[in-house]
Amino acid sequence: MNSPRRSLLVTGGAGFIGANFVHHWCRLHPGDSLVVLDALTYAGNRMSLAMLESAAGFEFVHGDIADQALVVDLLTRHGVDTVVNFAAESHVDRSIIGPDKFIETNIVGTHNLLKACRQVWLQEGRAAAHRFHHVSTDEVFGSLGPSDPAFHEDTPYAPNSPYAASKAASDHLVRAYAHTFGLQVTTTNCSNNYGPYHFPEKLIPLVIVNILEGKPLPIYGDGQNVRDWLFVTDHCRAIELTLERGRAGETYNVGGCAERAPPPPPPPLCRIADDAFVGDEALRQRFPRCPSAAGRTADSLITFVADRPGHDRRYAIDSRKIERELGFVPGVSFEDGLAATFRWYLDHEPWWRSVMDGSYRSWITRQYASTV
Ligand code: NAD
Ligand code: DAU
Repeated sequence: MNSPRRSLLVTGGAGFIGANFVHHWCRLHPGDSLVVLDALTYAGNRMSLAMLESAAGFEFVHGDIADQALVVDLLTRHGVDTVVNFAAESHVDRSIIGPDKFIETNIVGTHNLLKACRQVWLQEGRAAAHRFHHVSTDEVFGSLGPSDPAFHEDTPYAPNSPYAASKAASDHLVRAYAHTFGLQVTTTNCSNNYGPYHFPEKLIPLVIVNILEGKPLPIYGDGQNVRDWLFVTDHCRAIELTLERGRAGETYNVGGCAERAPPPPPPPLCRIADDAFVGDEALRQRFPRCPSAAGRTADSLITFVADRPGHDRRYAIDSRKIERELGFVPGVSFEDGLAATFRWYLDHEPWWRSVMDGSYRSWITRQYASTV
């Protein structure tokens, strides 16, 4: 790529999508400088960036986006011209049990980040050319009926969970800072991501580690809720294209396959697991509790549990704008992405074991009391 050199601040860069983005960016833009600011909500997350820690131009800072003085210092000292804001509380179920943290980080934290950018870039005039990119979600648009058209950029906001409401508020603040103060912003609203470094509290990685450990696969309600699954590296490319070619002030919807509703992930993952264990004695030795290791099928673990309160029934993304304007189309099919993700978890057992610490186990016990 022949883009000009940038100095990036990537907030939440130790999280799932953030870490994938940081790896993607460092691989494709080795001359840029990149600072990650992350509160390490999940203690093991720093491991996701371990191989970059000694790379030239890379720095990790443990801190909070709500700490305006810290952010001002980072923007100034590193001559940052591009902020990519991934930092957030991101799990819908946690927002139902404890919404306060979502307000603090997703709304107040994003606002303090915006204030710091305004101060350094606009009031002190340190970066005439700058970009604040905000990573948001399709959940701000609410829930679709079976035959409703997919969400497009002008779909009215109708967030249903405390998580979605906090993300919607942050999107509005980003928009207001562009409109009122002239901050150069872009926002992407993306569908469900999956892939490497995904914390095993979300459906796909939870199902994978539970299959391997022979634990119940908890399915909420009737298991027919529809999501538009996007492999995480495709999302990273979409953000990269938005930074390089996206028009300031615009929002772009990013989805996996728009109109096609993929099957819910647990059954295909069970089949992938069963196939992987056939004829692989080493795998059977490593994960003896997995049903596939004993010649049974992994789908015997599927367990229907109480539904999530206010569970959104269906999300679907109309991503024609980002395709038309920036040339983005997803490159990884759902089937290939699931197989690659399962393989990644097999190959990175130390990573997922390290993030499943005491606080993770407390969460699982609390959330799935009826199945564990
Ligand atoms: P994640 O929970 O894996 O990562 C979030 C990261 O933010 C964590 O590393 C956490 O430590 C950090 N963080 C939390 N509070 C912070 C604070 N106050 N200051 C600094 N860092 C803080 O989540 P994710 O799935 O990688 O999501 C990243 C972003 O993408 C979020 O903004 C989320 O709303 C958005 N998003 C996620 C998806 C998805 O499917 N996962 C889809 C669309 C949009
Ligand atoms: O749509 C984008 C959003 O996708 C992001 O903004 C969120 O940060 C991200 O967490 C994700 O939200 P979801 O709620 O859709 O993802 P989750 O993996 O939690 O759930 C996916 C679906 O699976 C959903 O219909 C609920 C269901 N589910 C989830 C869990 C954790 C289960 O049936 N059982 C479970 O144990």
